Amino acid sequence: MKIQSLRGMPDLFPEDLERWHIFESKLSKVFHSYDTHEIRTALLESTELFSRSVGNSSDIVNKELYSFLDRNEESISLRPEGSASVIRAIIQKKQEHEKHKLWYQGPMFRYERPQKGRFRQFHQVGVEYLGFREGISEYELISMVLQINKLIGITNYTIKINHLGDQLAKESFCDSLINFLQPHITELHEKDQARLKSNPLRVLDSKEKSTQALLKEGPKFQDFISDASKKFLHNLVNAFSDHCDIQIDQSLVRGLDYYTGIVFETVSQELGAQDAFLGGGRYDNLSNQLGGKDMHAIGFAIGIERIIELLSIENIKQPLKVGFITTGEQTDKKTYKIADDLRSANSSIILDTFLSEGSLKSQLRRANKNNCRYVIIIGEEELQNDQVIWKNLSEGGEQELLTSKEVIEKYTNL
Ligand code: HAM
Repeated sequence: MKIQSLRGMPDLFPEDLERWHIFESKLSKVFHSYDTHEIRTALLESTELFSRSVGNSSDIVNKELYSFLDRNEESISLRPEGSASVIRAIIQKKQEHEKHKLWYQGPMFRYERPQKGRFRQFHQVGVEYLGFREGISEYELISMVLQINKLIGITNYTIKINHLGDQLAKESFCDSLINFLQPHITELHEKDQARLKSNPLRVLDSKEKSTQALLKEGPKFQDFISDASKKFLHNLVNAFSDHCDIQIDQSLVRGLDYYTGIVFETVSQELGAQDAFLGGGRYDNLSNQLGGKDMHAIGFAIGIERIIELLSIENIKQPLKVGFITTGEQTDKKTYKIADDLRSANSSIILDTFLSEGSLKSQLRRANKNNCRYVIIIGEEELQNDQVIWKNLSEGGEQELLTSKEVIEKYTNL
């Protein structure tokens, strides 16, 4: 029997990755302009890291972690997200007192039920600002989200935002929610009854209409957070409301336990059920929770598979492609040098070499199919005369004969 890939862990082929590369190159410019630097941490961590950060009662740890015992009988897990590993790395390096602006990228693993936009191995690009208290860093990160969306041409999206207050406010809201829902427990859907027991705040995320109707009468986060927090949230929203659709969503709590303060998600209707392509927030207590010193922290992560769906590739300039056609075996050796010189002369152009596979006609067909704007053709006669044929595939197929020196010049200035 043929071996198949695991469910929810798709292969990515060159044609899929074309969009990823465009996204990644745009993103690296944004990170550069914000003086944000890359960090790489391991894919495997001790399971305790995630139970103490993301939270034992969260779905991610409770149901979705890929955990196993290693040869030393220690429980280790494939990372389901990046923030906990980044904080662990900074604590390990004893750098909690410094300021860091970091980004990371790579595969994450969650044993979820696969569906459109939801995978078991998926990829995130994340940003973590460490050592910055509530204030300008929130503005800077939201502005970074806007920059990223603008640069890759995403216009149709909403930022949902909420303020969870400090740990105390979060806990007293949670108590009040339990007290409110307990008498109505039988009216709740089975799933929400279970959530109320394991992770009450997640009831706010429920998709059940009856639960949402009930919650309308329930306690509101805004009544539990300080006036300063309320003011901060409103000022933040006002600062961006002229530039994007940004809305306060009091039911936004996010599925990871470590958040306090501002939390946000970016959603797009174009994505269907899994509509969040970015999520983040402040998590000032995580360093302490993991045994480190006090350290302010805020960040977000983008789901690459989801944002790629939204990338308007039509608006992005495709790199210029030139086909390189040679005919006949004996010409190949000498033509390597010409191809080599062309690539050295202008590395921003894609030189699509067909390695003399097939007739001139079939190579031309391939050049057209591969979207080559021009082709360089070298037959035996051209090679003997130190010449090449330069053919324009887009404008009526005009062609001219150039010397090998002239073709390098033309190629350099394309
Ligand atoms: P998260 O909301 O769990 O946050 O994930 C961030 C993004 O990853 C989501 O908005 C979504 O686009 C994508 N994502 C999550 N699960 C899947 C999946 N199964 N398949 C495809 N895409 C998925 C975090 O992970 C936090 N660490 C973000 C953060 C960074 N908060 C502070 N700093």
